[in-house]
Amino acid sequence: MDKELWTKVDEYLVSNLAPSDASLEGALADSAAAGLPQINVAPNQGKMLELLARIRGSRRILEIGTLGGYSTIWLARSLPDDGLLITLELEPRHAEVARINVDRAGVGPLVEIRTGPAAETLRTLIDEGCAAFDFIFIDADKEGYTEYLNLSLQLSRPGTVIVADNVVREGAISDPDSADERVLGIQRFLQTLKDETRVSGTAVQTVGSKGYDGFALLLVSE
Ligand SMILES: C[S@@+](CC[C@H](N)C(=O)[O-])C[C@H]1O[C@@H](n2cnc3c(N)ncnc32)[C@H](O)[C@@H]1O
Repeated sequence: MDKELWTKVDEYLVSNLAPSDASLEGALADSAAAGLPQINVAPNQGKMLELLARIRGSRRILEIGTLGGYSTIWLARSLPDDGLLITLELEPRHAEVARINVDRAGVGPLVEIRTGPAAETLRTLIDEGCAAFDFIFIDADKEGYTEYLNLSLQLSRPGTVIVADNVVREGAISDPDSADERVLGIQRFLQTLKDETRVSGTAVQTVGSKGYDGFALLLVSE
């Protein structure tokens, strides 16, 4: 593994295709200063999320796992002025930092942050009769991915795109004897997808400044 080279290549790609700006830099700097873990997506991954949401023509986006709002800002930038992004975060401190970051980035009016365990908030959204989302980004605790998928499907329609991050975990997902709860969570998620007739999906391995991992891309079909 050559993380140094992957990082160098990422820097080159980012400088050409996903240049940063004061809002994005500020979100990362203030998240770090507030002691949040630096487990946000990389800039070129953030730009990919923005592009996928734009390609979908998204007006309503659901994000599970806000952290300091870095990916939230990228995703919200894909929305029209009357769009909505609901993002779910367990930790009140993360949600507080994210609120400041998305407001400063100018996308605050589009973004609703709901604090609490994501599975509970998803059930509340379902009970509230929340309209279907066009694009869903799953990026919270890996143990919960299967539950988040099942609940997300109740907040989807045919054509909803779902992206789930960190599904390769340095290759550990291919280890049938793994005892790591996060790996087991992703294995359950991928096995569920194998039998899930309501979605068509794939997963792709990635390397870069964030290491060796990957994402799943799903299309809701019924
Ligand atoms: C990988 S980070 C999200 C990164 C963010 N999407 C980004 O790229 O900028 C995962 C976040 O999920 C939150 N989280 C963990 N368990 C959760 C749960 N049960 N419900 C909601 N959020 C949770 C963590 O507190 C953390 O802020």
